[in-house]
Amino acid sequence: MTQKSMMMSERAFFVTTPIYYISGNPHMGHAYTSIAADVLNRFHRTRGASFFLTGTDEHGQKVAQAAAAAGLDPQAWTDRLIPKWKELLARFDVRYDDFIRTTEPRHKSQVVEVFERLKASGDVYLGKYEGWYCTNDETFWLESKLIDGRCPNAECGREVQWLSEDNWFFALSKYQARLLAYFRENPNFVRPERAYNEMVATLEGGLEDLCISRVNLDWGVPLPGGGVMYVWLDALLNYITALDYASDGERFRTYWPANVQLVGKEIARFHTIIWPAVLWALGLPAPGLVFAHGWMTLQGEKMSKSRGNVIDPFEMADRFGPDSVRYFLLREAPFGSDFSFSVEKVRLRRNGDLGNDLGNLLRRSLAMLVKYRSGRVPEPGLGATGAAFIALPTRVGEALQILGFRDALEAIWELVAALNRVIDEKRPWDLHKGKADAALDDVLYELCEGLRWLAILLWPFMPAKATEIWQQLGFEGEPLVPWDAELVWGRLAAHTLVKPAEFPLFPRLDADVVEPAQI
Ligand code: MSP
Repeated sequence: MTQKSMMMSERAFFVTTPIYYISGNPHMGHAYTSIAADVLNRFHRTRGASFFLTGTDEHGQKVAQAAAAAGLDPQAWTDRLIPKWKELLARFDVRYDDFIRTTEPRHKSQVVEVFERLKASGDVYLGKYEGWYCTNDETFWLESKLIDGRCPNAECGREVQWLSEDNWFFALSKYQARLLAYFRENPNFVRPERAYNEMVATLEGGLEDLCISRVNLDWGVPLPGGGVMYVWLDALLNYITALDYASDGERFRTYWPANVQLVGKEIARFHTIIWPAVLWALGLPAPGLVFAHGWMTLQGEKMSKSRGNVIDPFEMADRFGPDSVRYFLLREAPFGSDFSFSVEKVRLRRNGDLGNDLGNLLRRSLAMLVKYRSGRVPEPGLGATGAAFIALPTRVGEALQILGFRDALEAIWELVAALNRVIDEKRPWDLHKGKADAALDDVLYELCEGLRWLAILLWPFMPAKATEIWQQLGFEGEPLVPWDAELVWGRLAAHTLVKPAEFPLFPRLDADVVEPAQI
């Protein structure tokens, strides 16, 4: 490796979303994780190489049952749904680098290769499985864990079935001590803390070997000798098959281990216990951080297809614009917490934070620049905002490193508020009337430079609107620029000609109060 490529790979960042079950159309909850991953990826893009992987989990009973209910074979069913899932990402400006489907040959061949490697190393062995199986959760449960004879997952509670089969097992129990030690040595491996503590408690409770094949199901990756791979192991492997793990490809060498794997909290156990053990069995390192985010709820319950309480993300994007929805989702609650979704709350944020605070700041600032200085940025002046916000990029960056999206946005809004205060307190129209030219130049420069900072800082969160601000300030392209070089107060060149738009950035939306029909 050359010095340069070593430096590149040291900085390379890799973020993943879970791969989504394609048992129907996507809902708002699916958009949430993908948008968060997109923000992280865009932020890391401003610092160097970054890779964002997402995709769909197309095997297993859930998908097979949904396809059967629609009268289609599972492959035809998933092929038909895929465009809608990709359209969701495009609609919300989620710019992924790869989208993997577990039905793709590149994935399936590597799943078999992994199976062979694990068999060869002795981590996978043949045994007999008898136990209680929950079809909905695709999980075997210990009899002692069942609640009144039903699935113990509080989210599920469905009937379980007794199964008795010859199956392949992964020697998970062998990794219990190593997992516990790893958790203790790496308290930031699983965040937030609540998820970390739950996983440690699970580990302390003991681990059983994991049944990783299914003989009573044919919708999965076929294994040599019969049966298919357990859908959860098949799915987890996407994170390395997409990087061409089996052939030790360039992508794999550059990006593994993942820096951040985002998951909903209901699937933290698979990602923080089973997944690192499988990776270790393959001689690979565990990911840097698995973040178990909270649930979007509706009327107090998790939004989910099986409950039927889902919101259509396309309708939200049409009503509010994708960036307002992106902003709302990440501003409303800390990433690790549950939060309830409501259209009225989206509207309030859109009219308040975005319309009144940010949109008006842009409109007023540029209108004054046009009126008083023919739209040309004056020479940098003596305004105090730059000095007051010198640490802002570091604060935002540090918040994003630990997935504090809300903290990051709150910090950015301090700059928005400070610039609005500059207008209110310095009253540029009075300075103009009083012919205080130097003071007016100072204020106008400060506003334009502050807006340039905002375009750069907001680009990961609201790429389209940040780009509009950027272009209204007279720049080309999009504000994907290195923060350390560009977030230096005073970099905005004097005489730059701004190009204010005719329409507001976030036109006010009046309450029509109708909560959308649930899909
Ligand atoms: N296919 C598995 C994941 C395999 S990863 C190797 C799966 N799929 S899922 O479609 O049921 O859910 C995937 C993810 O969607 C969740 O982990 C979560 O990130 C997101 N969400 C689904 N509903 C959600 C909410 N109501 N709220 C927040 N996120 C939600 O599990």
